[in-house]
Amino acid sequence: MPVIIVSGTGTEIGKTVVTAAVAAAALAGGRSVAVLKPAQTGLGPGEPGDVAEAARLAGAVTAVELARYPDPLAPATAARRAGAAPVRPHEIAEAAEKLAAEHDVVLVEGAGGLLVRFDERGATLADAAVLLRAPVLVVAPAGLGTLNATALTTEALRARALTPLGVVIGSWPDTPGLAERCNLSDLPEAAGAPLLGAVPTGAGALPPAEFRTRAASWLAPDLFGTWPGPEPAATGLPA
Ligand SMILES: Nc1ncnc2c1ncn2[C@@H]1O[C@H](COP(=O)(O)OP(=O)(O)OP(=O)(O)O)[C@@H](O)[C@H]1O
Ligand SMILES: [Mg+2]
Repeated sequence: MPVIIVSGTGTEIGKTVVTAAVAAAALAGGRSVAVLKPAQTGLGPGEPGDVAEAARLAGAVTAVELARYPDPLAPATAARRAGAAPVRPHEIAEAAEKLAAEHDVVLVEGAGGLLVRFDERGATLADAAVLLRAPVLVVAPAGLGTLNATALTTEALRARALTPLGVVIGSWPDTPGLAERCNLSDLPEAAGAPLLGAVPTGAGALPPAEFRTRAASWLAPDLFGTWPGPEPAATGLPA
């Protein structure tokens, strides 16, 4: 499983932080890691983007960005407004395959949610995942609304014969409420895929050395971590 597509239910849900955590856990296990961001929007030249953030937190990863557009919009729209070429699915697949030949793990971080458009033809990150035959990790919020958004995402994956690798909660609160606690057991059912971790809120603000030490404890073994899964008591239901 060298290439993992990191998608999610939307934007600002923690894909970059989760990507960094998976990278850190893989590095801690002695694996070489590349992080690929096909289209970075909302930033100008020289500003640190998502791959720079993943590298800052995780450490020695190969960080690659294929295109950058200044408007904070979907890649297709931002490319059009910039008068720049969009990133095509075959370019994403070729870049990921090249990195996979040289690394043990390649993490490809999408822009926003799964069906955000990358070009004027309506191509999405899912098209690149199909070309790569790569599993897709779904990053999801912790609270109310996440069951629907996660189910929609995994249904869209299955409609394209793609495999949802699992779900990781992008930002798990210090004091989870009823919805959050119940979602620990309901998310796998909604997704039809296992819960593979939960990254605590505030993780992205930890000193990188602490982030790297703790990352494996947030992630299941399928993501190079040691997380045993939620304790039954955490759901608020009788154990
Ligand atoms: N577990 C976390 N700990 C600390 N900060 C977090 C965490 N999850 C998300 N954030 C913060 O929330 C914001 C959005 O997170 P992030 O950049 O990972 O989103 P994203 O899903 O990658 O969005 P995009 O679609 O723009 O790539 C960032 O400012 C990030 O630092
Ligand atoms: Mg991001």
